[in-house]
Parts: sequence; structure tokens; C-alpha cells
Amino acid sequence: MSSRYSEVYESWKKDPERFWSEAAADIDWFSSWTQIFDKDRGVYGRWFVGATCNTCYNCLDRHIEKGRADQTALIYDSPITGRKKSFTYAELKAEVVALAAVMQDHGIGKGDRVIIYMPMVPEAVFSMLACARIGAIHSVVFGGFAAKELATRIDDCKPKLVLAASCGIEPGRIVGYKPLLDQAIELSAAKPESCIILQREEQPCELVPRRDFDYREAVGAAMSAGRDVACIPVAATDPLYVLYTSGTTGRPKGVVRDNGGHMVMLKWTMWNEFGVKPGEAFWAASDVGWVVGHSYIVFAPLLHGCTSILFEGKPVGTPDASVFWRIIAEYGVVALFTAPTAFRAIKRDDPGGEQIRNHDLSRFRTLFLAGERADPETVKWAEEKLGVPVIDHWWQTETGAPISQNPVGLGQLPVKYGSPGVPMPGYDVRIVDDAGHEIEKGTFGNVVIKLPLPPGALPTLWQADQRFREAYLEEFPGYYKTADAGFIDEDGYLFIMARTDDIINVAGHRLSTGAMEEVIAEHPDVAECAVVGIADAMKGQAPCGFVVLNAGVKRDMAEIEREVVAMVRERIGPVAAFRLVVPVKRLPKTRSGKILRATMQKIADKEAWTMPATIDDPAILNEITVALNERGLGI
Ligand code: COA
Ligand code: AMP
Repeated sequence: MSSRYSEVYESWKKDPERFWSEAAADIDWFSSWTQIFDKDRGVYGRWFVGATCNTCYNCLDRHIEKGRADQTALIYDSPITGRKKSFTYAELKAEVVALAAVMQDHGIGKGDRVIIYMPMVPEAVFSMLACARIGAIHSVVFGGFAAKELATRIDDCKPKLVLAASCGIEPGRIVGYKPLLDQAIELSAAKPESCIILQREEQPCELVPRRDFDYREAVGAAMSAGRDVACIPVAATDPLYVLYTSGTTGRPKGVVRDNGGHMVMLKWTMWNEFGVKPGEAFWAASDVGWVVGHSYIVFAPLLHGCTSILFEGKPVGTPDASVFWRIIAEYGVVALFTAPTAFRAIKRDDPGGEQIRNHDLSRFRTLFLAGERADPETVKWAEEKLGVPVIDHWWQTETGAPISQNPVGLGQLPVKYGSPGVPMPGYDVRIVDDAGHEIEKGTFGNVVIKLPLPPGALPTLWQADQRFREAYLEEFPGYYKTADAGFIDEDGYLFIMARTDDIINVAGHRLSTGAMEEVIAEHPDVAECAVVGIADAMKGQAPCGFVVLNAGVKRDMAEIEREVVAMVRERIGPVAAFRLVVPVKRLPKTRSGKILRATMQKIADKEAWTMPATIDDPAILNEITVALNERGLGI
């Protein structure tokens, strides 16, 4: 089948407003827009200005009204606890309405912020949708972060309410969420008025009188009382959620997502990009704490009338590398979306793909990979073992949906290994040099996107327009800086090779090395430090901290290392996966004092490197090489 991609992309380019207004016909609006795009509003313009809508209505109510009440909307499969449960669209709505009623009893209404701190349990999905129903703005915080990170988010978005679970479950250990929540509230200046806590039987918790309320008790009472809560009309431009993502410092960026544009974009992607039809089972094996979970576990599949899988487990070890195939076969999943790291883990445990053959994957059509660069070896392995197309696509928390893709719904284009496909409608992607000049095809440079960003991409950062301008829009005027580097080939395929800032990608998780440095620098024996992401066969990258001790420190280095590792775990969280400390006498710097992190990373990864012309003292790079050797890393 030939692809309609070029024709569709050109039609968007010719008339973006017409393109998105046609896409918007797939969404139910309470009132239509006065302007499709108003370039004078917000930082760079706003989409669907004047329209009113409700995301929960489009995810649930309208499907029920149109005959999907008894279709399964959500399947919770938790190999880590041994639980399974499914919810029809009608049952999902009942849960959401009851929780929305409870939230209203706690004084939550339009524009109020609600933090959701929950693992992969159905109540996390109910919570997100209940917020959407009453116009509250949710902010989900990933469970692998420490109390301090949660506190930073509480202080930034000032939630009136926190919806949390008593615990999460990781292989071999229970993660007490409640102690982390209590500690975070203690640390934060903006105290939430109340917390609604889901007690999990693996580790129930104590409730603080007058502040904490039992989720099941409250929701059960609202259900028994037959409470009803209608969908509140919100402006298309009102925020649906704020999702914090790593910035270059310890202060995360609050990415704002609006209601209208977000629905239009996500709905459009489900068929055109992912090739999935309403009624089919779609599975994003991610976490609701990440953007992939927001977009493709919760909102997009439900907007499209699909059955979405909520998986509480790991690709390996829960119980083994066959779990993905079991789930695909059991629920007739047609498309799976996960991170390449998950496949590297499966490949490590089952290199011959023996487990795949034991399952009926006849309904499975496509594997989608994103979150980090998909290495060709992993893509080829998955292709060969699964016998389906393996589609790498590229996006960011900021965009909420793919920037580039191989749009299987429009007709699959040839796969080029190492490339996450071609730009999607809405995205005019260019490669520029550091001065902002466009460069030749095939040449490596900064990846930027011509403004305006399309519907669904961030309009700004939470209450920080100026920070948004400075971080994304100022360096290349007229363009959005992705902070990714790469090139576009002769056929228009993108290749995303590296970040241009100090963000690293560990097991598909986006982390800031700057934030880790801030923590390490607080160790009393540390004079200075630099964290870089070095290659890791399984996780893609792993953080490695080069540490210079204060003069005269005589303590055992192994002990200091343990303390530094513990500090990062304690302050940022286990998800930072920070385990490697390399003691060095000095850090290599330019004459103006900038630490040469990129050169250190190249040495550690055994990549070719050249002596930076601006280096202050070239001898230090030798010292780095020796220190890495002593740790069994580097050359
Ligand atoms: N709550 C609490 N802790 C968590 C957590 C959560 N939700 N998620 C991860 N952690 C912890 C892990 O338990 C681990 O702790 P440990 O140091 O005590 O072992 C630590 O954070 C590091 O986790 P991770 O980097 O994920 O490593 P892992 O060895 O536990 O698992 C993979 C490796 C590949 C199986 C796993 O990273 C994975 O499934 N990745 C896919 C990522 C993904 O879906 N990304 C979303 C973008 S699509
Ligand atoms: P996040 O905001 O967590 O989704 O991380 C976004 C970053 O992950 C991007 O800026 C890229 O650096 C990286 N990334 C995501 N998907 C891909 C991909 N398919 N190929 C290469 N890098 C990717």
C-alpha cells in the first residue's frame, strides 16, 4: 500500500488552520471556537480560542451515549500483585463520577490543582479523569522520585488536594508512598488542605486526622448515595494538566497541557499515526507518571474509544520475559508502545525469543518504540522475533505526541534503522547551526521546530512564561528549541542522536545531570563534581559522577562514594539509578571555567575525541582517563 503521508503533510503545510479545524471535528465541543489559532494570545499563540469542551466527556460520556457503555475501557493487569480487573466505559465513568463528587466535597473546582501520587493502579486513571471532569488541573508525580522532588512540585503548583496511594510495589520491595508524601508536605511551604489516600493491602498506612481521608470509604459513600457530577465546560485553552519534567537544574519544568488542542492532536494520532481503530486494544507499557502514560495509557486510547491496558509490572522479572506476550495474547492487543530499554531487557533474558512462540500473537500488528533512541540492533531483533513492523518515533514531554513518526495509519513508509521517521503534521522540523542558520541535508546540528507549535504541544510552563521563552524560544528566534541534536537525510527522515543540554536518558527516564550535581555538591567532603551520562548496554545511558574532594579529606573513598550514592537516591529518588562515582583530582575545564563534560563522556564511552582548543590544562584529561581505568571504565 502506498503511503498518504506526503499528501497529508503537504495539506497541513498549505493550510494548518484548515487541517486542524478538520481534525477537530472528531471531538465533541460544548461551544465552537471563535478563532482556530490566535497568534496574539499566550507566548506564541493559542489554539481553538473561544471554544469550550471537557476532556472527560470526550473520553467517557460521549462513547457511552454512542453505544460503548459495555465495551471494556480499561484493563488493569498487575503481575506484581497478581491482580486483574477490567472496567467497561460505564463502570469507568461510575468510578470517575464518584471520585469527582468526593473531590467537590473537598472544595475542588475549576482551576484548582490536584497532585496525583499513585503507582499503576486504576485509581490513578480515575483520578486523572475525575480532575478533568470538574476542570481541576492534575499533576501526576512518578513514584520513583524522592520526597524532595515531590515537595518541589507541591511548592510549584500549590495543590489544594493530593490523591495518593499508601504504597507502590517494585520487584522485591514495597515503596511506602505515604511516608514520602508526609515528608514532602513537611518540606513544602504550600501545604495541601487534604489528602485522599488509597489503602493498598500490601502496606496500608496511618491517616493524619482531619487532613487524610480514606479513598475507598469516601468513593464508596458517594456511589451508594448515587451522586452525579456533570462534566464542567472549560475553555479549550484551559490547562488539563501540568507535568513536571527535568530541566537543566534541580527545578523541574511544569509543562502545561491544554484541553482542546490536546484532544484534537491525540485523537488524530490514534489512527493516522498508530493505525489503531476504535474498539481495539492498545497498550502503552509505560507509567502514568510520564508523558507517554498520560497520552497513550489514559487520554488517547479513551478519546478514540479503545480498550487501554494498565500494566503494573516490569518487562522482565514479573514473573519473566514472557509477560508482554501473555498480555498481548490475553487481551488481543493490536499495538504495543514501550521504550527500547524494555526490549533490551527482554532480549537479555530471552535472546532467542523462545517465549514469544508460546503465545498467540495473531492480532498483534505493530510495535512502537520511543522515549530514547531505538538502537538498530534492538529494532532488528524485535522485528525478526515478532514478525511485525517495529516503529521508532520521537517526541518529548513538551509535545505530548510524536514529533516524528512512521505513520502506519496513513500507510507505512520504509523503515530506516536508527531513524524515528519523518515529521508529523504540525511539525516543521529544521536543522540549524549554533547561529541559527539552516544547514545542509545530512549535516549534524540543532533540531528546532518552526513556530507555532501544533495543538497539544505546550503553550507555556506553569506560571512561568518568561522561563518558557528563555528555555525554548530565545536561542533560535522563530523556532522552538528541542535541545536534541541530529540530522535530516535526503529522504526527509530524521535522526535524533543526542541532547544538547545536560539531560540524560536512563532506561527511558529523562533525568537532569545538573540536578544530580546540585545534590552531590552538598556532600561536605566534595569540592566540585560533574555528572555525565555514559553508555549502558541495558539502560541506554547511566549517570556517572566525577567527584573532586576537598583538600585534606582523609576519609575512606569507598565510604564517601556510598554516601554520595545514597544522597542522590534520597534526594532525587531511586529512578535516578545513580551508582557510579569516579574520584578525580581535578575537573577538565575551558579557560573560561566551563567543565568539559562532553569530552569526559566521550573518554568514558571510548569514543573518538579531540582536545578542545579552549582547554585550560590538557593534562587533566589524562587524569580522567586514568581514574576511569581504575574504575574499570574507559580505555
Ligand atoms: N516507584 C518506585 N521506584 C521505582 C519506580 C516506581 N514507579 N520505577 C522504578 N523505580 C526504581 C527501581 O525499583 C530501581 O530501584 P533499585 O535501585 O532499588 O533497584 C530504580 O528505580 C531504577 O529503576 P530502573 O532504571 O527502571 O531500573 P530497573 O532495573 O528497575 O528496570 C527496566 C529496568 C528496563 C525493566 C525498566 O527501566 C523499564 O521497564 N523501563 C521502561 C521505561 C519506560 O517505560 N519509560 C517510559 C517512556 S516510554
Ligand atoms: P521525555 O520528555 O521524557 O519524553 O524525553 C524526551 C527526550 O527523549 C527527547 O528530547 C530525546 O532526547 C529523547 N527521545 C525520545 N524519543 C526518542 C527517539 N525515538 N529517538 C531518540 N531520542 C528520543
